[in-house]
Amino acid sequence: MKLLACLLLALAPVAAAAESGAKTFTPCRACHSLDPADQGLPGPNLSGLIGRKVGGDGAFDYSPVLRKANGDGLRWDAERLERFLADPAEMFPGLWMSIRSVEDAADRAALVRFLSDPASR
Ligand code: HEC
Repeated sequence: MKLLACLLLALAPVAAAAESGAKTFTPCRACHSLDPADQGLPGPNLSGLIGRKVGGDGAFDYSPVLRKANGDGLRWDAERLERFLADPAEMFPGLWMSIRSVEDAADRAALVRFLSDPASR
């Protein structure tokens, strides 16, 4: 029994690291979906986000600041997404999204990996 407990403890950090992108995304799911068929949530659909234009969910009514970014041709790449999550309102003043930031750098990196790689879902 003791040996099993030790084994589980030894494995726990690995499991936690593999999970943290999905876990960090959990609160985002209140407003966002990664299933392209989902519509009508409070936030835009985030399927295929990386490579997509900023403000690129055609079915979503974005704020003026994201509509302008879309018109300027800005696209989401991993680097931009990571900077956005560090401070969304600094990148896009007037953003209609109530979360302030994902403060932990490791959480941000895991979240960007999770949103970049459909296979990791
Ligand atoms: C309370 C609802 C809500 C939560 C929670 C939320 N968002 Fe948002 N999100 C929005 C809204 C609304 C917009 C559109 C903002 C605008 O038009 O200014 C948005 C926009 C975005 C965009 C830009 C999408 C695009 O099409 O360009 C990204 C990326 C994003 N959110 C990621 C996240 C992540 C990651 C989380 C979790 C850490 C999160 N959001 C949590 C409501 C939310």
